[in-house]
Amino acid sequence: MTLKNIRDQFPALDQKVYGKPLVYLDNAATAQRPDTVVELQKKLSQSANANIHRAVHKLASDATEAYENTREYVREYLNAQYSSEVVFTSGATASINLVAHSFGEAFVRAGDEIIVSVAEHHSNIVPWQLLCQRKGAVLKVLDIEKNGVLSPDSLEKLISERTKIVAICHISNVLGLVNPVRELVAVCHKHGVPVLVDGAQGIVHSKVDVQELGFDFYAFSGHKVYASTGTGVLYGKKDLLDAIPPFMGGGEMIKSVSFKSTTFADTPTKFEAGTQNFNSVPTLVPALEFAGSMETDPAITEFVYRKLTEDERITLYGTGLEDKIPLFSFAVKGAHHEDIALIMDKMGIALRSGQMCAEPLMDRLGVTGLLRASFAPYNTMEEAKFFIECLDKAINMLV
Ligand SMILES: Cc1ncc(COP(=O)(O)O)c(C=O)c1O
Repeated sequence: MTLKNIRDQFPALDQKVYGKPLVYLDNAATAQRPDTVVELQKKLSQSANANIHRAVHKLASDATEAYENTREYVREYLNAQYSSEVVFTSGATASINLVAHSFGEAFVRAGDEIIVSVAEHHSNIVPWQLLCQRKGAVLKVLDIEKNGVLSPDSLEKLISERTKIVAICHISNVLGLVNPVRELVAVCHKHGVPVLVDGAQGIVHSKVDVQELGFDFYAFSGHKVYASTGTGVLYGKKDLLDAIPPFMGGGEMIKSVSFKSTTFADTPTKFEAGTQNFNSVPTLVPALEFAGSMETDPAITEFVYRKLTEDERITLYGTGLEDKIPLFSFAVKGAHHEDIALIMDKMGIALRSGQMCAEPLMDRLGVTGLLRASFAPYNTMEEAKFFIECLDKAINMLV
């Protein structure tokens, strides 16, 4: 498939902002959606807009079938053992909160320890802080190595007899480096500690085999991987999901309800309380099909990496091309990140600027915020070159 064919599937790319062709480089925040995703959502909204798992009529069974087929598709995509290990949520944040709450209820006591890394998104920090506050547990923080990756040796030094769970990112949304997750998980398992891996960025850029990698929990959002917003996945090993209580109570997550005693449905239904996002969840199928078969041209990653590291006015965070995804966070000496982003927006280039929901990492790096350019398979080398050209112009205007 040519790049033009790929771009033709994403009509959102073919628009002008301030009269300039859009160059969308904020893919790590939310990716654009292909026609297959938009059309499927439209089709289901028009032909199968009925609540799932409840009524016996045709529309309801069509909606249920699309939803449950998606669960099986995601199971296969992740190589999970059972489809019941796939829980649908509203996104990575909801998935992580579910585990922090329910795993915490079952297994965390006062004085126990939870480990997160300093490179986590707020959604893989704050739910654990809330849990620690509730239980009187202790949050320990794994630092990054010099280039930005997490080290299994450093993690092993932090693990103690009191460690109940480790929660780390597959790929940081700031540093853009693939962490050695297999080795990190192996260290935890050596000490009998389960691991939650935040895959919000990881699922977009790598093939994930949860069994081979040994993940206990894996969380991601649909909207970053080309699916509709408000969709997300929590993968959890069956024995763990079975062992933890529900997160939210409501319709469909029960076996029987009475004022004397209520019993809960089996995994995964016990975690899917209330009406689910049933017309959007099936968009995960065409979205993951796209993600699994496309990658950003490695020449773009190399080119942007080289240009940003060569330029003395720029400091790139997350270095080393070997583990790099096409995501670049950087500071410009003498210029505020927001000013650069505003100027580049007027040139048609959509960048992210600020703390990127990773304030502890910003503190660790000694910055108040950064600029971030993140590429997707539909971005072209011409766009990459235009980005570098415009960045140079914006810096020259300010510095
Ligand atoms: C690494 C990482 N984790 C978690 C999240 C949270 O995702 P969401 O807001 O879709 O729940 C993000 C979003 O930026 C992310 O990049």
